[in-house]
Amino acid sequence: MSARPILLVTGGAGFIGANFVHHVRAVRPDWEVRVLDALTYAGDRRRLEGAGCDLIVGDIADTKTAQSALEGATWLVNFAAETHVDRSLLDAEPFLRTNVTGTYRLFEAARQAGVAKAVHVSTDEVYGETRGAAFRETDPPAPRNPYSATKAAGDLMVLATWQTHQFPVCITRGVNTIGPWQHPEKAVPLFTINAMRGQPLPLYGRGEQQRDRLYVEDHASAILAVLEQGEPGEVYNVAAGNNRDNLSVAWRICERVGAPQDLIHFVEDRTGHDWNYALDNSKLRSLGWSPRYDFEAAMDATVDWYLEAQDWWVPILDGEFQAYYERQYGERLAGAEAFRG
Ligand code: DAU
Repeated sequence: MSARPILLVTGGAGFIGANFVHHVRAVRPDWEVRVLDALTYAGDRRRLEGAGCDLIVGDIADTKTAQSALEGATWLVNFAAETHVDRSLLDAEPFLRTNVTGTYRLFEAARQAGVAKAVHVSTDEVYGETRGAAFRETDPPAPRNPYSATKAAGDLMVLATWQTHQFPVCITRGVNTIGPWQHPEKAVPLFTINAMRGQPLPLYGRGEQQRDRLYVEDHASAILAVLEQGEPGEVYNVAAGNNRDNLSVAWRICERVGAPQDLIHFVEDRTGHDWNYALDNSKLRSLGWSPRYDFEAAMDATVDWYLEAQDWWVPILDGEFQAYYERQYGERLAGAEAFRG
C-alpha cells in the first residue's frame, strides 16, 4: 500500500487557509493535511476544529521550524502572511518579515526538502489599482501600499526559485475574499458586526472604491485546482467578477442584518486607497474552475454566518483589537458624517 500524500498548509489557521483545509479534507479525504501557523493576532486554532489535521505552532521565517514541518511533505500551500492594508500603513515591519523574508525562507526550505510542488497564495493588490481594464497574469507588479509591496516582493522571490532552481511553484492572485471566519478587522465582517451592535459602519471616503467579492469556498477550490493542475512557474488570477462599490456592500449588510442605513458613516479615507482591482480569470477557467457564488449569494452567506457565530467573534473584539480599533477609527468616527438616503 502506498503512503498517503502529505499536504503542508502554512498559515492554515488563518481565514482563507482554514477554509482551504476544510475544503481539502472534504474533497480529498485520503490526503494527510498538516498545518504550520504562528497564531498571531489573526490566527485562531478554533477555525480548525473538526478538520482532522495536525497543527504545528511556529513561524515560517524560522527555518528549523519550517524544515521540521516540511518533513515528508509531498506538497506545500502557503497562506502565511500579514494581510491587513490599514495595519501596514501603521507599521510595515511585520509585513516585511513574514511576507518577504518568511516567504523566501519557507520556499527555500521546501525546495531543499524535495517538495513535489508548492503554491504561494498572493493577491490582486500586487498589480496596483485599475480604473479600467482587468489585469492579466502577464501584467507587471505595480503595488501601491506597504502590504501589497511586500506581497509583490514575495511573489518575485517565489518565481525566482522556479527560474533559478526549477523548483515547481505556482502563484495564485486572489481578489477580496469574504466568508466564514474572516477577522473582524476587515470591511465586511466589521460592517456586519457593527450593524448587529447598532454601532457606526466606518466607510472610507464616499464609499466609491470597488472590490470584487469572492466567496472563500470558491477561492479554496481555485487553489486546489492550481495545486493539482497548474503549470510550474505560472501565475493564476482568482476572480469572481462580483465588483461592487463599498457603499453598495454596506447597504446590503444593513438590509440583511435589519439595521438602519444611517448607521453608515463616511470617515476620512485610507491613504493611497486603491480605486479598484479587476482580474481576468480566463487562465484559471481553462483548468475547469469557475466560481459558484455571485455577489448576492456571497454577501448573504457571509452575513448570515456572522449572525450565527457570535461565540467566535465576540472574544476577538477585546484586548488587542479594541486598542487597534480606537487607533484606527477613534478620530475618524469623531469627525464622521452619517449617510442620509
Ligand atoms: O483584494 C485582495 C485583498 O483584499 C487582500 O490581499 C487583503 O489581504 C485583504 O485584506 C483585502 O484587502 P482590502 O483592503 O480590499 O480589504 P478591506 O476589508 O480592508 O477593505 C475592503 C474595502 O473596504 C476597501 O476598499 C477599503 C474599505 N474599507 C475598509 C475598512 C476596514 C472601509 O471603507 N472601511 C473600513 O473600515
